Parts: sequence; structure tokens; C-alpha cells
Amino acid sequence: MTRKRFWKLGNRVFNTHYFDIDKDGDLIVREGNNQYNLRFLAQKFGTPLEVVFPFILEERLEDLMDLFAAQIKALKYRGKFFYHYPMKVNQNKEVVMPLVSEGANLEVSSANELWLVKRMWEQETFNPKIRVICNGPKTDKYIRLIDELQHRGLTVIPVIEGPNEVSVFGSSRFEVGVRVDIPPSVSVQSRWDKTIDKFGFSEAELMKLGRMRNLQILHYHIGSQIERQSDILHPLRYALQVYAKLRKINPTLDTIDIGGGMPIPYDRKVGYAVTGLVRQMLTIMREYADRHRIPHPNLIAEWGRYMVAPAQVTIYKVIDVKAIAKGTAKKWYVVDGSFMNDLLDTWAIHQKWHVLPASNLHAKKLVKTWMAGSSCDSDDKYTGQNSYVLLPDFDPNTTPEPLYVTFLDSGAYQDPLASHHCLLSSPAKLIAENGHIIVARKRESAEEVGKLFGW
Ligand SMILES: Cc1ncc(COP(=O)(O)O)c(C=O)c1O
Repeated sequence: MTRKRFWKLGNRVFNTHYFDIDKDGDLIVREGNNQYNLRFLAQKFGTPLEVVFPFILEERLEDLMDLFAAQIKALKYRGKFFYHYPMKVNQNKEVVMPLVSEGANLEVSSANELWLVKRMWEQETFNPKIRVICNGPKTDKYIRLIDELQHRGLTVIPVIEGPNEVSVFGSSRFEVGVRVDIPPSVSVQSRWDKTIDKFGFSEAELMKLGRMRNLQILHYHIGSQIERQSDILHPLRYALQVYAKLRKINPTLDTIDIGGGMPIPYDRKVGYAVTGLVRQMLTIMREYADRHRIPHPNLIAEWGRYMVAPAQVTIYKVIDVKAIAKGTAKKWYVVDGSFMNDLLDTWAIHQKWHVLPASNLHAKKLVKTWMAGSSCDSDDKYTGQNSYVLLPDFDPNTTPEPLYVTFLDSGAYQDPLASHHCLLSSPAKLIAENGHIIVARKRESAEEVGKLFGW
């Protein structure tokens, strides 16, 4: 097996078609004819290091929009498709701006995220026709900001999540949405606690709400990283029948918003492809609408992880190696950053990653490792999908070249969740774009981290 295949590089199935190995065994990323050497970047800018590739975001969004346009045409679907990027997944400017510039609408879930939208809008950094969906419980501050932006002409659409919000937005002259809670009987496997879901209204509650002046969107969200296609299609079928009933009371209703959930093949293939899924969703919606003699609904997707995870990598340096007396791995590789801090899902939801070296990718001698983060916590570790991580055999005392380890697909959720356990500094962050490297975030000094804690 070639090394490229072994490390699952150059493969669209794993979103690694931008990645390759150069003749020296370094991991490289190609943007057209521009090329970024990750070992070199780690050496030059130090580790831990995050590198963001805006061109990957742009290509992914373009591909998704083209896919929907093609399927809508092929299936003679008469509704429209809107992509809304959910900002909670990664609010960094270098992520949001490329998506907006490629035509993404936005989804926000707090007053502070909406405030960022307001700022972008005031600075005229985007097309004023952009649409912004507001999910999440609406605090007074959030409500005031929604109201302000609506009156100033931005299309801001609050999704009503609870009874109090009905009284605030139910008779609004602006577009509103409402959230249905998909019941546990429509069970799905995903990263979402269905047994204690606290969002939206049940179908019965929705029917009792009565007519709302300008209800246009029926929204639901069933979870993240949904690895079975049927777990996306079943809730859609359920939502369609709620939509049809709700439309009888609210004839203005014309859109279904399916929320997030499209998965990423982190360390293994996902069982379905986006093309087939989109075709199936549109077919189901078309057939249902035709059967019930209602117009084909517009469709909104808020796929976040799917859009941004592959656009960032996180790189650590191995700073020490220890023997493991008994275990599925042979050696601990201690790294100079923290999984609990920088890739917090490793600890929180036992996230599995696509891990490979940034250097020495031709190495023939590999070893089963467990990786230790450098905080003092015994949970600060990554032990891989099969209870080990295969990496080049390495001893910092005898090997002159450092070993860098790359975690792919780190662009979703990890930055917003990041923390400072043991007062470790966050990784420095680079943006690699058009052949240039920009430092987006310097490595925090002790003074800067101390300041966060009142020092
Ligand atoms: C309402 C809503 N929309 C979209 C998303 C994004 O989900 P994902 O990243 O799985 O696509 C989330 C995530 O929790 C969400 O709560």
C-alpha cells in the first residue's frame, strides 16, 4: 500500500484530496498551485499550532450550492434552497467571512453572535440581502437586537422556541420561524441527548399556538454527526406531516429548516454521500408536497460541522516518549499542547480524529501509541479509534528531527469550546491563503493568559 493511501490522503471520501506527501515525507496541503508544508509551518511558528485554509471552506460551500442547484433542476423541484452557516460551530472571522463571501446566509444562537453580524453589516462587509436565522432562547438583549436589525432592513428571522417568544414574535410583521421538537419515537443516533431535549414545541403544542401573523419557517434540529442516512430522512418525513398540518393554520408557511447534522468522516467512512442524501431529501419533499397538493417547500440546511471541520488542522510536537508496561499501545507520546484545552471534544464526547504525522510520513517503522496532553489531568489524552494511534517510532533523545503530529478536521466546535486548564496557552493560529501565511492569533503569553483570570 502506498504511504498516501495508508494515511488516507488524497481521498475525497476523507476530504483529504488537498493533502499529499512531498519527497521528504512532509505533509503538504495544495491550494491550486500553491503548496503549504505543515512540518515547515510547525517548525517556523512553533506548536501547538492551528492552520486554517479558507479555500477549503469556499470550495465546500460552492460544491454544496452547485449540488443543490443541480438536484433541484434534475428533480424539477419548485422550492428554493438556502444554506445558513451556524456561527456557533466556529465564530472566527477567518471562517465566517469566506463563507459569507461565497454566498452563505447565517444562523446565530445568541445576542453576541448577532452583534457580530450587526458589525459586519454596518461595515458593509456583506450583501445586505443576506438572511439571518436566530435560534436559541431569546434574552431581552437578543430580542432588542433582532428588533433593531429588522427595523433597519436586515432580514433577521427569529425562530420561536418557547411560549414567551410567541407573545414577543407571534404577531410580528417580519418573517418568523417556529421550532418543532422531534419526539424520541423518531429516534436517531447522533450526538444529542434526545431523552431530555429542551428545545421547541411538541407537535400538539404547535397546533394549539394558533395563527401567527407571518410564520414562514418550520425548524427542527435532531443532532450532530448523524452517521445513518435514515436518521436524517425519518425526521424529515415527520417534519413534513407537521408542516402540512401547520400550514392549514398558517398559510404563510413555506420553508422547512432541517438544522445541522451532516457528518464528517473523521477517522472512518460515513455510510452515505451528500449527493444521494440531497437527492433523497428533495424527492421525499416533492412527493409529499405533490400528494398533499401543497407547493414544494423551500429548504434550509444549517450544516456546520460538515462545512468547516475539514478546513483546519491542529499540530502538536512530541516532547517526550514513555514506555507503556501494559496496554493496547506500546508508548506514550507526550505532546506540547492539551487535548482537553485545544480539542476539547476528545474529552467531552470521546471524539475520534484523523491523526497522522506532519513529518516522516515515509517512516516504515510505526508504533502503537497513546497520546498525552500536557495538562495535569489524567483525562487529557487521546487513545485513538482502535485504542491506539499508529505513528512513526520516535525517541526525542536519539532522533534529531522533531516529530510533529497533525489532527485533521479540527475546524468545528473546538475553538469555541477551548479552555485554559493548567493555564496553558491556546495554540497559535495561522491562515494559509493564496500562497501567503497570516498569523491570525499569536501564542498567548503568560501575562495574557493571566489577565483572563484577573491577574
Ligand atoms: C440549531 C442548530 N443548527 C445547526 C447546528 C449545527 O450542527 P452540525 O454542526 O452538526 O451541522 C446546531 C448544533 O448544535 C444547532 O443546534
